[in-house]
Amino acid sequence: MKLSHLTLSSFRSYEQLDLDFSNGVNLFLGPNGSGKTNLAEAIYYLSLAKSWRSAPDRSLIAYGHDYASIYADVIESGMSRHIEIHISPNGRKILINGKPIKRLSELSRLVNVVLFTPEDVALFKGSPGERRNFLDVNLSKRSLDYFSLIGRHNRLLDERNAALKQSEVDHAYLEVITERLIEVGEPLEAYRRVFVDELNKILSEVASELYGHEKKIRVCFHPFVRSGPYKEEALKAYRRSEQYDIVHKLTSVGLQREDFSLELEGKDIAIYGSQGENRLASIALKLSPYFLIDEEEKKPIAVLDDVYSELDEEHSKNLTALISSLSQVFVTGNDIRIDGASTYDVSVHKASRRN
Ligand SMILES: Nc1ncnc2c1ncn2[C@@H]1O[C@H](COP(=O)(O)OP(=O)(O)O)[C@@H](O)[C@H]1O
Ligand SMILES: [Mg+2]
Repeated sequence: MKLSHLTLSSFRSYEQLDLDFSNGVNLFLGPNGSGKTNLAEAIYYLSLAKSWRSAPDRSLIAYGHDYASIYADVIESGMSRHIEIHISPNGRKILINGKPIKRLSELSRLVNVVLFTPEDVALFKGSPGERRNFLDVNLSKRSLDYFSLIGRHNRLLDERNAALKQSEVDHAYLEVITERLIEVGEPLEAYRRVFVDELNKILSEVASELYGHEKKIRVCFHPFVRSGPYKEEALKAYRRSEQYDIVHKLTSVGLQREDFSLELEGKDIAIYGSQGENRLASIALKLSPYFLIDEEEKKPIAVLDDVYSELDEEHSKNLTALISSLSQVFVTGNDIRIDGASTYDVSVHKASRRN
């Protein structure tokens, strides 16, 4: 899929902005604070109606305005679709080809984005929530079934936690919710296992391109149920922790605690990896879902915010080679030169195409 046109209206630092984009590399260049990340954020917002910056939607509305709007034209298999998103303090409205959508999945299906942000450098050392988010976002894009199952799982988890917070815990009710959690947990965990296996088939190759020589890199998934029949083992785990959960008024085991680590040449990168190695590995991992999609027309849009910062010359060259092979990619930076790229100069409240 390709983003061919973007209009922003009172979105972050932009009062009004109109940009046409090309296939291949699109570069947003400008000094610090000029609005490059804001542009990347607007493009990413199209894929999930959510910013990656854990900021409320309200912060997307330009200071002094009542609402923000994003208009975009997205092309896939020769079909152009017009997306309109209006964000107000009371919520948002999304239209595709002029018609309001009923479910978020209609948008999510239409626009797929792989994203790298400067925060991803801490992906392996940081909190597990970010790593689970990587799994959830990518799996939701791959499978509508996962998208709805994870939504159901999270609602059930909220219910279980609410039940644990009651002064008098209703044990029968707790048991029913626990059973339902196990029921949706089983397929979700299976989806995660398959996805991690698929990532591991290509990850070393992507990383080796970035490093410039062969590197073995592997995602190690730490599932809730490590072995044995899922339902039985999960039930045992919930029973074991029930007293603890009641005391702490929170569900302490389950899918919401799953995690993964990353091994570089057999060693945990969070413990042994340098800053640079963490950076390259996180770029490789965040890009890898792109390479799992074979159909050219379905290839996601890549949005890479500040991906070049702190990379030395050799690794920058490797990254440029990799980026240049992508169908459509948006890259922000201060001073990047990539042959054949479309370049946009970003300066406060403005962005314009140079070539
Ligand atoms: N809601 C908003 N309204 C107006 N300006 C905003 C809003 N949110 C952020 N900004 C401004 O955007 C600028 C940061 O833009 P950003 O895209 O992060 O810059 P960079 O080019 O460094 O990536 C800051 O000056 C900030 O004040
Ligand atoms: Mg920035």
